[in-house]
Amino acid sequence: MVAETRLHPADLILPAFVREGITEPVPIQAMPGVVQHTRDTLRKAAVEALEAGVSGIMLFGVPEDEKKDAAGTAGTDPDGILQVAIRDVKAEVGDELVIMSDLCLDEFTDHGHCGVLDADGRVDNDATLERYAEMAQVQADAGVHVVGPSGMMDGQVGVVRDALDTIGKEDVSILAYTAKYSSAFYGPFREAVGSSLKGDRKTYQQDPANLHESLRELALDLEEGADMVMVKPAGPYLDVLAKVAASVDVPVAAYQISGEYSMVEAAAEKGWIDREKAILETLTGIRRAGGQMILTYWATEAAQWLSAGR
Ligand code: PBG
Repeated sequence: MVAETRLHPADLILPAFVREGITEPVPIQAMPGVVQHTRDTLRKAAVEALEAGVSGIMLFGVPEDEKKDAAGTAGTDPDGILQVAIRDVKAEVGDELVIMSDLCLDEFTDHGHCGVLDADGRVDNDATLERYAEMAQVQADAGVHVVGPSGMMDGQVGVVRDALDTIGKEDVSILAYTAKYSSAFYGPFREAVGSSLKGDRKTYQQDPANLHESLRELALDLEEGADMVMVKPAGPYLDVLAKVAASVDVPVAAYQISGEYSMVEAAAEKGWIDREKAILETLTGIRRAGGQMILTYWATEAAQWLSAGR
């Protein structure tokens, strides 16, 4: 009766990986229970999420290894795995489920960075923006509802907005990865997308020590046309989430990332914590802090629990 925060299945968004050229789903070792989907099992996962009451799906494409190159060309190929997956899911669930796509080059580059590199091997911000503009257009052409620019390049939201408007896709929304921290908890994701990254993303992702920087990023993203904003990771950054949520009147999302998932799964597997209670507690905490939409690998399962009144 006195609960101040309630979780609802529609608060949840399922991030999902689809890998090119496989005939069976491939389990991700570092994320027990999560797989790289085939095109077929991705469609099934989308239907299952929809039936559980989840409101959206965030798609990540994993190309065949030999298709990775320095420019991440597979990310802008109209027949690239991510574009194909968007079309597949759209054909399956139409507009019933909000279809979102990761707009970033790291899954498609052979060096594993989120952008293209300059002659000195550093990420070239402005050259990367041109690639993002192209990516936004092919994803929109494939039928995505929301794009999620996650590369943390300066100016990415504005460039993506212009690129979408130029081809008449004014109705495609932008979920801006506003405060994305350079986090150790992305570890398992690197396996999930078969990333070839050596080094780190400290030159473009944020320092975990900073809060005010997030508010500056927030102001820029809103000015550039973000429709929704996100804080990521979620658990270790609930103060950032609360601050962002208190500062804006656009929807605020939080991404409970791979490492947050794997920690709970590992401890539960050892019998050290109650899995279901721990999962619902983490999600409730994110909701309480101000995360209106939560991207979580437990989305479908948690939605099923919530519908069952747990
Ligand atoms: C970048 C991207 C990453 C994640 C989502 N989008 C990886 C990174 O920035 O290193 C991480 C998600 C997770 O860890 O669950 N395309």
